[in-house]
Amino acid sequence: MDIIKITGGRKLYGEVHVQGAKNSVLPILAASLLSKGTCVIHNCPSLSDVTASLAILRHLGCRAKQEGSTVIIDSVDASRFDVPHDLMSEMRSSVIFLGAVLARFHRAELSLPGGCELGPRPIDLHIKAMEALGADFCETAGNISCKADSLNAADINFTLPSVGATENAMIAACAANGTTVITNAAREPEIADLQNFLNAMGAKVKGAGTSTVIVEGVSEFHGCTHTVIPDRIVAATYMSAAVSAGGEIFLRNTEKTHLEAVTDALRQTGADIDCMGDVIHIIASDKPKAIRPVVTRPYPGFATDAQPPVMAAVLKAEGTSVFVENIFENRFRHGDELNRLGADIRIIGRVAAVTGVDMLRGIPVRASDLRGGAALVVAALGAEGETLITDIHHIRRGYDDIVYDLNCLGACAGILKK
Ligand code: UD1
Repeated sequence: MDIIKITGGRKLYGEVHVQGAKNSVLPILAASLLSKGTCVIHNCPSLSDVTASLAILRHLGCRAKQEGSTVIIDSVDASRFDVPHDLMSEMRSSVIFLGAVLARFHRAELSLPGGCELGPRPIDLHIKAMEALGADFCETAGNISCKADSLNAADINFTLPSVGATENAMIAACAANGTTVITNAAREPEIADLQNFLNAMGAKVKGAGTSTVIVEGVSEFHGCTHTVIPDRIVAATYMSAAVSAGGEIFLRNTEKTHLEAVTDALRQTGADIDCMGDVIHIIASDKPKAIRPVVTRPYPGFATDAQPPVMAAVLKAEGTSVFVENIFENRFRHGDELNRLGADIRIIGRVAAVTGVDMLRGIPVRASDLRGGAALVVAALGAEGETLITDIHHIRRGYDDIVYDLNCLGACAGILKK
């Protein structure tokens, strides 16, 4: 069981290359199942969720290999339509395979992804979208099985803009007869990236990034080459790290338009943030100030995934910062661990009030989930002494090599093997 050890209380000076986006690469890997050729995907981070996706693709009969940050998938001989429980449970977002398996084989058998640390994660919208396209579902003992004699275009209107359901609907609609119109679609940049990948394989999708996505079904998908967009949540984490520890850092391979809500919040601390091309340059304030209420919303609102690291950035800011979590029920679990480091966070339901303290002190803490773990890293950089973070498998689901990156930024971080 590895532990991240961070000796905090030193300012960050340095630069780092931001990895490709986890939330892009996972649906893209699933969508590669449609191809009757070889897909070469660049800027792919090395994450446990990527390893889990490749294991699912191999189980389905694809050849898949990762060479550095490039993944190569050959789906020509894919032949299975079932994903067993052990592979599904490796990754919380494995439901993203539903649309792709259904599109390729007109049937799919998956175990349910189950609840998770962020509270219940229903998949009703995914299922309704597949039903609209012609699939019949049957659910038994935690497994879903679905079948479609043919997939036919539909008008799909989501009651809320779910990221995963939008992606599943787009992927399945690519192989449906006719033109599907998805309304109240999620608008996240990763959905536009998926559209670009699908179109590179020969699909005809437009509108991704807006709330209406139009998919004209096609019958053949060929191989392609695609480069995954930069990970905006990893960039937000390292920007938060600079505010927490102080100093001056450069982040390369970023897309500033994906980060506006976070940049706006962190500038309120007094940080000077400049964006030039794909580089973000941040000079932290020596005396950070509290920020206006952060309210998480679907994109282009403030990302729920950026809420934990940004909260950790303002633990020592002068005044009180308020966070309202609207997307997931159970997304303040990092609050207790941050308080153990000396923070003053009060949580009532979906609202957390963070009153700045003079000092944080490093102690052993436990990562409760992926972004909650990132929040502990951010806080540890601003804490005096050593922080030991356990359960870092959560962090490895989303950060390629966070310890290496932190050391590039001038932090004192390492892995203890236990
Ligand atoms: C994706 C991201 C995750 C991010 C989240 C919100 C990936 C791999 N993961 O997750 O990092 O935190 O978007 O930006 O891209 N909901 C339903 N029914 C459904 C589906 C969702 O009620 O069928 C609800 C969820 O409970 C949640 C909200 O919709 O309250 C948003 O969830 P959704 O956008 O689907 O998140 P994910 O796609 O799971």
